[in-house]
Amino acid sequence: MDEMIRANIYSVGVVDSDVRIFHGYQTPFGTTYNAYLIIDEKVTLIDFVKAQFSAELLNNIEKVLCGKTIDYIICNHVEPDHSGALPAVINKYPTAVIYGTAACEKELNVYYPQSNFKFEVVRLGDVLNSGKYNFSFIPMPMVHWPDSMCTYLKEEKILFSNDAFGQHIGTGVKFDTDMDKTELFERIADYYANIVMPFGNQVLKLVDIIGKLEIETVCPSHGVIISKYLVEVFGKYISYAKNETIDDKAVIIYDTMWGTTKKLAQKLSNELTQNGIKVEIISLSEKHYSYAMSKLIDAKYIFVGSPTLNNTMLPTVSAFLTYLKGLRPKNRIGKAFGSYGWSGESPKQIEDVLRSLNWEIIDLEKVMWNF
Ligand code: FEO
Repeated sequence: MDEMIRANIYSVGVVDSDVRIFHGYQTPFGTTYNAYLIIDEKVTLIDFVKAQFSAELLNNIEKVLCGKTIDYIICNHVEPDHSGALPAVINKYPTAVIYGTAACEKELNVYYPQSNFKFEVVRLGDVLNSGKYNFSFIPMPMVHWPDSMCTYLKEEKILFSNDAFGQHIGTGVKFDTDMDKTELFERIADYYANIVMPFGNQVLKLVDIIGKLEIETVCPSHGVIISKYLVEVFGKYISYAKNETIDDKAVIIYDTMWGTTKKLAQKLSNELTQNGIKVEIISLSEKHYSYAMSKLIDAKYIFVGSPTLNNTMLPTVSAFLTYLKGLRPKNRIGKAFGSYGWSGESPKQIEDVLRSLNWEIIDLEKVMWNF
C-alpha cells in the first residue's frame, strides 16, 4: 500500500483486513499497521509492521527507494504489531540506525536478540536532522507501553502518533476526509475504550505537550490519517481521558439463562427511560465484551446483570468484568442485578467488582425464579 501522502512522505505500511481479535479486543473491520518513509538527504523509516507482513513492507519501501538505502529508523513503539518486521528490515538495511526511547532499546533487545541493530536513545526535545527535515521526539510512556513515543516533523506540521489517535480500520481507506464522520468517531471510541482507557492521565500529559505544537496532520500507526477532524479528535481524547460522561446515557450489560435476567434488564431500562435516560441494552450472548466497552465509554450509568449459576455469575459476565476492571472507567454510577433459584450470589459478586472501581453504587436488585 505504498502511497505518497505528501511530497517526500510515503505511507508504506500494510492493511490487515482479516484480523478479528487484537489482544482480546474484537476488530470487526480489521486494522492497518502504518509505517512511513520520509525521503530527504537521509532516508527515514517511521515504524515497522507486524512480522507476517515483513515482505510486503520491504516491497513497499523498495518501490519508493529504487535501490537507495534507509539511514534512520524511528521506532515509536516496540509492541510486535509495530516492530515485528525489524529483523527483515535490518537484514536488508544493516547500516540503518534505530532511534527510540531507553525503554524501547531494552525491549527491542529482548524481542530481537539475534538482530544486530544500531540504536540511539532519544529523549523529550531531542532532534534528528535528515537534511531539510527535523524530527523531534515526545515520549508518551504507557500510551501504550513504557517505550511508546511519538515523533513530530516540524517542517510538515505532522505528528507521527503511533498508537495514540489510532483506529482499527482495515478497509483500505487512507484519509479521514474519505470517511463517514460518524463511523470514524465510532472507531476512535472503540480504540480508546479498549486500548487507551486506563492511561487517561498519560494522555492528558501528552495532549499538554503536543498542544503547544503546530499540527496539521496526525499519522497514527493504525487506521486513517487525520487532518480534517483533528481538532474534534483531540477534543474527544481530552474528554475520554478526563472520564467525562453523558448524564442521560446508560448501558445495561447482561447475560441470561432462562430469560429472567433479560426481563430484569428490560425493566431497569424502562425505569431509566421514564427518567429521561437513553439506554442501550447489550446481551453478552450476542455481543463481545469489547463491544460493550465501546458503548460504555461515556455512559454515566452502567448496570451489569447475571443469573446465579453454581454459586457464581455466568462466565460471559465474569469475562466482561475482568476486562472492565483492567480498563478502569471512572466516575460512573453502577448497579448489579440478576435472577436466582436458591443461593443468589451473583449480583453481590458483580457489585463488589463495580465497588472496586470506586463507582457510586445503586442498590442491587435480584429476583427469585421469575417475576
Ligand atoms: Fe498498536 Fe501498542 O500497539
